[in-house]
Amino acid sequence: MKSFHNKVAVITGAGSGIGRALACAFAEQGCQLALVDVNAAALQETADTLARITDKRISTHLCDVADREAMKALPATIEQQHGAIHLLFNNAGVTINKTFEQNTEADIDFVMGINLWGVLYGCYYFLPYLKKQDEAHIINTSSLAGYLGMPNQSTYCLTKAAVKSLSETLRVELAHYQIGVTSIHPGTIRTNILRSAAGKSGSNMATTNKLAGLMERYGMPPEKLAKKVVHAVQKNKMQVRVGFDSYLGDWLKRLFPSAIHRPFQWGFGKSIAK
Ligand SMILES: NC(=O)c1ccc[n+]([C@@H]2O[C@H](COP(=O)([O-])OP(=O)(O)OC[C@H]3O[C@@H](n4cnc5c(N)ncnc54)[C@H](O)[C@@H]3O)[C@@H](O)[C@H]2O)c1
Repeated sequence: MKSFHNKVAVITGAGSGIGRALACAFAEQGCQLALVDVNAAALQETADTLARITDKRISTHLCDVADREAMKALPATIEQQHGAIHLLFNNAGVTINKTFEQNTEADIDFVMGINLWGVLYGCYYFLPYLKKQDEAHIINTSSLAGYLGMPNQSTYCLTKAAVKSLSETLRVELAHYQIGVTSIHPGTIRTNILRSAAGKSGSNMATTNKLAGLMERYGMPPEKLAKKVVHAVQKNKMQVRVGFDSYLGDWLKRLFPSAIHRPFQWGFGKSIAK
């Protein structure tokens, strides 16, 4: 998609971090925005920020992406308000920092519901609306974790690998409708995702807060990621790696598919020996 002028972009998880940065970047490109999140206050904050940088139409939609019926109803509401839907960002995501066996069934449902079903619902229910356009694009937020299984992130890695796989399939299946599909694979981006995980998980709080501190200190600003995504959608790229750690993880996995997991094993062994 070469021009975003007056295109309508739907962004889930638009209340914070990467979603908010994507909203700002695509607003600057001339898009109308339909912002989706479960957090009403955060959603409003993004809408207020956008109102300062664009005069294009902005709508807010309080919606849980894991709620099938809500997601089914969402595209019609957005089309009614904006007249069309051209870009879909399935971006809302959460994590929980626990070993696989520490996860409760509710923990598994929580991560799978948002990171996997949320993306599937988005692709599935928005597709008929995207197909009405001469050209459209789906952008799914995966992760470096989509390339690599990592300790304490079993469900997160599982969902992100699934999002990568789904995106590859859709890219082929939808090309003849002029619908591009891109998956985003960020490394460490400075957002609230780990602080939210520490608040929710009820376990491994100290480690999660420590990781969140590192993310806040060394993570890449989400605005840089958003600029890369604008370029990637213009060029219809299949995947976007963002950050040194994302490139490094991807290449090390290709070059040393088994050995790359040894440092994880060593670090994980040390952490449980404490
Ligand atoms: N921050 C990173 O380092 C990083 C790295 C790789 C991938 N990602 C991915 O980027 C995406 C965005 O995460 P972020 O880092 O900006 O985190 P964030 O916590 O800052 O933002 C996530 C947003 O999603 C919203 N959300 C949570 N559950 C929802 C639901 N059920 N329905 C609708 N909205 C919901 C939250 O309210 C929040 O506004 C996620 O998919 C995440 O997995 C992040």
